[in-house]
Amino acid sequence: MKGRLEGKICAITGAGRGIGRVAAELFAAERAKVFILELDETSGKAAEKQIRVNGSLAHYIKCDVSCYDSVQNAFRQIEENTGKLDVLFNNASVYLAGKDKKISDIEPAIWSKVLNINLNSIYHCCRFAIPLLRKSGGGSIINTASSAAITGIPKCDAYTASKGATVALSRSMAVEYGPENIRVNCIAPAAIATDMVKQSNPDGDDFDTSAFINLRTPLRRWGKPDEVAKLALFLASDESSYINGTVIAADGGITISGDLSKPTPRTLQPHKKYQRYSKKGFAKRNVMAMEQ
Ligand SMILES: NC(=O)c1ccc[n+]([C@@H]2O[C@H](COP(=O)([O-])OP(=O)(O)OC[C@H]3O[C@@H](n4cnc5c(N)ncnc54)[C@H](O)[C@@H]3O)[C@@H](O)[C@H]2O)c1
Repeated sequence: MKGRLEGKICAITGAGRGIGRVAAELFAAERAKVFILELDETSGKAAEKQIRVNGSLAHYIKCDVSCYDSVQNAFRQIEENTGKLDVLFNNASVYLAGKDKKISDIEPAIWSKVLNINLNSIYHCCRFAIPLLRKSGGGSIINTASSAAITGIPKCDAYTASKGATVALSRSMAVEYGPENIRVNCIAPAAIATDMVKQSNPDGDDFDTSAFINLRTPLRRWGKPDEVAKLALFLASDESSYINGTVIAADGGITISGDLSKPTPRTLQPHKKYQRYSKKGFAKRNVMAMEQ
């Protein structure tokens, strides 16, 4: 049976685990040849092995997407191996909760690390992937943002900045490369149950899981990696051939339901200067106005 990505050559960054890993397996099952660009050798090799055991095509390349030379080397290998590329899925990122902070508090090394891995990686990969996409007569680039690009995540300003820039960059790229039949779209996930999310809410943090699920998620559950990977598959395939420059949330409606700030009692209160505008303050003022 013909696959949805029959004969396509796809590069997926950060495909050793999480959303990228599931996407690699899905893409390969749809008969793509998948290049796994992953820093972690153990998980990258395991992903390659699993896909091959399933009877599909995969090739692991150790790659640090934050490093220009490492990415150049990875795409050189892809070119030597296949001579072209059809799909680039920029998925790798880090979320350094606890170290990423309010902008006035972030250490320079953390700011640079997050921006290098999450944003500069897209520059690096596109720089070397686009010439290969041209050789295919076009293709699809999928960038990964986050709900953070739309609502912001308080105390994670480096991550938020990297994802906001990813959205803006994707729109610009969609206009620039559309005439070359290269479509560029952006995925904005939120609350997907992966190691990234588990590691970002360590024990002792003030994150309240049940409040989050009950107050902030319209579907009242975490998302699953395949619920984002299937969207990436659609954007990678010719089924989305007229979709260019979009930002599609894969978040169960979290982004439109409010922000993702941690609901600690202190942050639920307005600044003392504005407390008279809180619900209680308004009620008191209105009563006073009626009494006059
Ligand atoms: N999980 C969520 O709820 C969520 C929410 C919003 C956005 N996202 C975005 O979705 C994407 C995937 O997230 P995930 O939850 O699957 O993350 P994850 O942490 O489970 O997986 C990320 C992968 O990227 C790899 N990686 C990290 N740094 C790298 C580097 N320098 N070079 C190469 N590979 C590197 C990691 O080794 C890992 O395999 C990310 O862009 C993330 O920002 C996820």
